[in-house]
Amino acid sequence: MSNHCFEPDDDAASDSPLLADPFRRRLLSAAALSAASGVLAAAGVPLPALAGSVGRAAGSIHGFTGLPVSSADEVRVAPGFLATLFYAWGDPVSNGPRAKPDASDSAAEQMQQAGMHHDGMHFFPFVEQGRLSSTHGLMCINHEYTDDGLLHAGGMHDWSAEKVAKSKAAHGVSVIEVRQYKGAWQVVRPSSWARRITADTPCRVAGPAAAHPAMQTAADRRGEVVLGTLNNCAMGVTPWGTYLTCEENFNGYFKGPKTPNTDQKRYGISEKGAGFRWHEFDERFDLSQHLNEANRFGWVVEIDPWNPEKAPVKRTALGRFKHEGATVTLARDGRVVVYMGDDERFEYIYKFVSSQRYMPGHSDTGSLLDDGTLYVAHFADDGQGRWLPLRHGEKYEKGALTAEHGFASQGDVAIRCRQAADLAGATKMDRPEWIAVHPKTGEVYVTLTNNIKRGRHEGAANPRAENVFGHIVRWHEARHDAAATSFAWDIFALAGDPQHADESKRGTIKGDAYGSPDGLWFDPNGHLWIQTDVSTSVLNKGDYANLGNNQMLVADVQSGETRRILTGPKGCELTGITATPDGRTLFVNIQHPGEPASERSDPASPTAVSAWPANQFPNAVGGRPRSATIVITRQDGKPVTG
Ligand code: FEO
Ligand code: CA
Ligand code: CA
Repeated sequence: MSNHCFEPDDDAASDSPLLADPFRRRLLSAAALSAASGVLAAAGVPLPALAGSVGRAAGSIHGFTGLPVSSADEVRVAPGFLATLFYAWGDPVSNGPRAKPDASDSAAEQMQQAGMHHDGMHFFPFVEQGRLSSTHGLMCINHEYTDDGLLHAGGMHDWSAEKVAKSKAAHGVSVIEVRQYKGAWQVVRPSSWARRITADTPCRVAGPAAAHPAMQTAADRRGEVVLGTLNNCAMGVTPWGTYLTCEENFNGYFKGPKTPNTDQKRYGISEKGAGFRWHEFDERFDLSQHLNEANRFGWVVEIDPWNPEKAPVKRTALGRFKHEGATVTLARDGRVVVYMGDDERFEYIYKFVSSQRYMPGHSDTGSLLDDGTLYVAHFADDGQGRWLPLRHGEKYEKGALTAEHGFASQGDVAIRCRQAADLAGATKMDRPEWIAVHPKTGEVYVTLTNNIKRGRHEGAANPRAENVFGHIVRWHEARHDAAATSFAWDIFALAGDPQHADESKRGTIKGDAYGSPDGLWFDPNGHLWIQTDVSTSVLNKGDYANLGNNQMLVADVQSGETRRILTGPKGCELTGITATPDGRTLFVNIQHPGEPASERSDPASPTAVSAWPANQFPNAVGGRPRSATIVITRQDGKPVTG
């Protein structure tokens, strides 16, 4: 497990001995191959926009009949496709124990098994016979959070140190080796690549907030090593073959003071907000004892799947907020650009541009994410937009990013990123979720999942006063350069129910309808895949009465035509999507199937959690519903991605 192999100075250590490292040799050959053949896009990293490319990409939606909505407790896929269960909560990552149906596994056992609530993920292909393999790879899979009523045999009854340890062990990331054998995908067991990264795994801190006084604690006096990553939502993948996992709602793990200070309030930290109850048995999560611990979460964390010995690295130059994802592309000159959403009502969209260029084949590339400019987006009503630099010393109308306003250094800007963006005058969005970059045009799409609290019209980019269904905004950067400081934007679709009695809730979707778009991904052919996360509390009723369970759709961004390809089981959300380089296998996550309308299994009712109806997804595994990665293929063996 990663917890046993922390290297405190691993980036420095990774400088020269890489070529002697068999893991790294594979990666370098992959990078060299990518540079030579332009297959970065196939590996999941969009290339810079093509010179001279303008307007929308070509690429019509491939031929399948869209599914009707469904409220059934099963995964349904469009005719011609197949869905197979692959990797569920409790499955061993390597040679560990299999999960017990009643969830009586210990914390130590959970450490060797898939965590709960699968979210963002990526397939990293091996290089075999000089080509990126589509039958053998490593997968990184986020486990966003736990439903502790479901995680433990007795729910949250008799809350204990062991239950807290298991809850922490069910968070984080799985790194697994996967192989297709005789047409079926398997987790390779044992595997020397496999590891679990949890809420206790040591992570190095890099970038402007490293060693900052606000990052220092009694256990880490230098402010350079944090135990764990948590609430790992969506993700990104770098051109150098690493995985970016993103810490989203970190505030819910910390017990704050009765009267939070301004900075704590800005990040939602409160006395009653620590719903995970870890602080009751791990004082690290009690801010009255360890004030700075909460500053050490809310970051983008880089994981090198090709080096199981290497500690994850918190890349603080990318800012601290409730990170949904971190979508990487390259500027025209090769600088690294990372697009990021802060998923909360009225929060912002950010991008980071590295100072240095990415050089294919060079090894010490992670540090590119430590030095650069962080920007926040302003969407003007005329369809133009600007990227506002969050640079220490930068002057804005509302105040400068200087010591006078609490920003004595770039480290302060990174840690109090939301406050810096407030001063810059960024546009308050309707919950920014995933961001996807078109692989051919560089055009950028973002899901704004919903926001029913706006109350009045406040600008064209978030045009609904009561945004029940959410929308998708897109933009293209000036000169088709991802490093540009201005852009032009429009709305790709307002989600909604075309049959809704209220005209303002009907939306503008062409084709199959959906609401609360969340997961978003471009396949290498330029099809936009949309996954929805309608809250279980409103699924199949009220405004959402006609839209069924959460679902996945594919859109042709040129015509706007959108078709429903998958409907999920009861209570789930769809989130996380990745494909093999040949496009013949698509991996998709079913998160929190069987979730009750309260969005948490009832902690006061241990009998309820031991009596799950047998038909809840995935019924083959046992009595409890389990989040899982599923495999989507086509019956005729052709690429799923068209
Ligand atoms: Fe973890 Fe905003 O979804
Ligand atoms: Ca999400
Ligand atoms: Ca969501």
